[in-house]
Amino acid sequence: MSKDPSQLRNEILNLVKEYQSVKFAKKPFVPGETPVRYAGRVFDEKEMMSLVDSCLDFWLTAGRFAEEFESELAAFLDLEYAMLVNSGSSANLCAFTAMTSHLLGDKRLKPGDEVISVAAGFPTTVNPIIQNGMIPVFVDVDLGTYNVNVDQLQKAIGPKTKAIFLAHTLGNPYNLDAIMKIVKEKDLWLIEDCCDALGSMYDGKKLGTFGHVASFSFYPAHHITMGEGGAVATNDELIARAVKSFRDWGRDCYCNGGENNTCGKRFTGKYGDLPVGYDHKYVYSHIGYNLKVTDMQAAIGVEQLKKLPEFCAKRRNNFKLWAECFKKWEDKFILPFATEKGDPAWFAYPVTVKENAGFSRTGLTNFLDMNKIETRNLFAGNMLKQPAYLDIQKRVVSNLVNTDLIMNNTFFLGTFPGLTEEQIKYTGDVIEKFLATKQG
Ligand SMILES: Cc1ncc(COP(=O)(O)O)c(C=O)c1O
Repeated sequence: MSKDPSQLRNEILNLVKEYQSVKFAKKPFVPGETPVRYAGRVFDEKEMMSLVDSCLDFWLTAGRFAEEFESELAAFLDLEYAMLVNSGSSANLCAFTAMTSHLLGDKRLKPGDEVISVAAGFPTTVNPIIQNGMIPVFVDVDLGTYNVNVDQLQKAIGPKTKAIFLAHTLGNPYNLDAIMKIVKEKDLWLIEDCCDALGSMYDGKKLGTFGHVASFSFYPAHHITMGEGGAVATNDELIARAVKSFRDWGRDCYCNGGENNTCGKRFTGKYGDLPVGYDHKYVYSHIGYNLKVTDMQAAIGVEQLKKLPEFCAKRRNNFKLWAECFKKWEDKFILPFATEKGDPAWFAYPVTVKENAGFSRTGLTNFLDMNKIETRNLFAGNMLKQPAYLDIQKRVVSNLVNTDLIMNNTFFLGTFPGLTEEQIKYTGDVIEKFLATKQG
């Protein structure tokens, strides 16, 4: 007699559990041989079992795991709506493009409007501004926090300024007291790119809950992963509807997968110049994309989300260990610090080589690389010096001196939960060795 599918499923999942424990068994750290990574996925048998569980459903597109993830993420953030998309970049695109929706009436963003951002960051925070025909306005950042300089931001606001779109750099919050004051006084939209900041806090509140809409990334380097993935979160019903529409081909229908006639007028509505009763499932009210996830991605995310508090605690602790390690070299490096009232779940430990340090950033990162220690630059450095951005339409406020210094002198080390105290200590010893060769 053939076995029952649920019995077979249990057997498969038990085998997956065993496979994971053998295939990914922890190996001892060998200094100089085992890579010290800047980031990476941290998982156990639960993620693999959940992934296979979803494969065995063979639902494929967003389904029960996506629904569970969205509802758990919304609960974690204490926000009404969390919507999965296929990357952090897609989250930025959806979140920002939602601000152009007719659903927002006169307040919607229009081509030619100005949006304030920074050049020291990740390109896909700025790209949606350009892709929607608006003008990015660049201001400089502060060293140490690597966030927007609030005085410059204030000065940058002109009659055409309609929004602020900024990432919380490497998980460190920007000065939200000052920025929310400006947002309210000038009646601007605030889009929070929290791709590096899931679980970071400001004044006791989670990042992503201050602005009108927020984005998150679940790429493996980030606080939790689903391989490729991202989310948009908001408390605003109209923004949520616009986000879903732009994500789902631009359609007007907001039925979840597998549902029909949620609006109750699937065959009776009148839209645009379409005939009365044209099937609402095929009514398009935005110029949209398809940026949806698969349920397999969400299945990994569901288990990762349960580990988020533990992951964030580990990131905070690793940052502390780096701070203890680097304290003795304050004459050589500008060390990072949390914004006042901020409690970052740090994405990384960024340091800037001081101009008079006696060595270059690249000299040091190359030495670290030779010793199997990974580093990364602060993303695009000065984005405006990147080939794709040389000729964009923009407004630049001040001369971006700190942004240039970041491009030339800043790098970061990892804080991810897979990084151990032993690896941090080894890195400290390697830097000590490097500095000794530069003495005298
Ligand atoms: C601040 C920021 N925004 C957006 C992204 C894009 O996320 P994704 O790689 O998931 O597209 C990243 C990527 O690392 C990022 O650091």
